[in-house]
Amino acid sequence: MKAIILRNYGGPEELRVEDVTVGAPGAGEVRLRQTVIGINFHDAYVRSGLYKTLALPGIPGVEAAGIVEAVGEGVAGFKQGDRVAYVTGAYGAYASHRLIAAAKLIRLPDTIDDRTAGAMMVKGLTVQMLLTKLRPLQRGETCLIHAAAGGVGQMLTQWAHHLGATVIGTVGNDAKAGLARANGCGHVIVYTRENFAARVTEITGGKGVHMVFDSVGADTFEGSLAVLASQGVLVNFGQSAGPIPPFAPARLAAKSNALWRPILFHYIEDAGERQRMADALFAAVAGGIVKVEIGAEFPLEGAGEAHRAMEARATTGSTILKV
Ligand SMILES: NC(=O)c1ccc[n+]([C@@H]2O[C@H](COP(=O)([O-])OP(=O)(O)OC[C@H]3O[C@@H](n4cnc5c(N)ncnc54)[C@H](OP(=O)(O)O)[C@@H]3O)[C@@H](O)[C@H]2O)c1
Repeated sequence: MKAIILRNYGGPEELRVEDVTVGAPGAGEVRLRQTVIGINFHDAYVRSGLYKTLALPGIPGVEAAGIVEAVGEGVAGFKQGDRVAYVTGAYGAYASHRLIAAAKLIRLPDTIDDRTAGAMMVKGLTVQMLLTKLRPLQRGETCLIHAAAGGVGQMLTQWAHHLGATVIGTVGNDAKAGLARANGCGHVIVYTRENFAARVTEITGGKGVHMVFDSVGADTFEGSLAVLASQGVLVNFGQSAGPIPPFAPARLAAKSNALWRPILFHYIEDAGERQRMADALFAAVAGGIVKVEIGAEFPLEGAGEAHRAMEARATTGSTILKV
């Protein structure tokens, strides 16, 4: 049994594989043999020490798919051999095997293979949260999605397009622009060489957009605010380029705008709600509304390499570790 143990906050080189022993599951727990682990930008914040949410030494990672190997006392509803996935703020996903509370598990339908499940749970549930739990995006509206060729970005673009919204996407280079277009962006802006705020203003004839989905943070926040229509909503849900400096809420009054800062973990705490969101995601994938692009795959030992590629903006779609 192997796991990536983070002993010090720092660069990708701090993600080293070690031999571990995972014992029998306790009451209410199962032991999983994991097959596919999802890499998320969140993992980089944890590794670098920007978030101090993982106690060191610790095993990072918030999602995986796998097979139930053993069940502890009192576990109802899961048995040995069941295919499952999970998302957890308690970490521990970068491992070949693990113990986890059965209450956290999401049963996988036959329509979703392990690779897809491991690549999409965090990102797909995040898209559900962004599109249905805040201010639902409406048919005929226009939204701006930053990093549209990324993991969340691709799935969000596809789903927003399916809902009948016009999607303007930003991307870091021309290859990503092609992907963003293929996923349903009506307009694509290469924001590393174009002023995205000026382009969005031009595209919308000065009206601005109803919603901005901004996971880039430091580099885009001001432009995102500037392109909101009257009563438009800015959803900042990440900080891939760094945290946003302190902000005066009174600035939102200029156009009666709203700012959300949601975190997925809060929206999936309730087991029933988590299952409803997962079912909607499975249906969207089975129905072809969302296609999960796995842009890169690494072995467990390659977790550091995966982080390096992700932070260098060299990945598109989802990145996975295959155990
Ligand atoms: N709030 C939540 O609950 C929640 C849940 C899931 C994800 N998130 C956030 O959503 C975002 C996307 O997550 P993901 O895992 O799917 O990652 P990702 O979008 O695949 O990767 C991040 C992308 O951000 C863009 N970016 C812009 N400036 C960057 C910089 N200075 N350094 C690195 N990347 C930069 C890059 O795309 P371009 O080259 O095209 O610019 C890069 O590919 C992350 O910020 C993550 O924290 C939040």
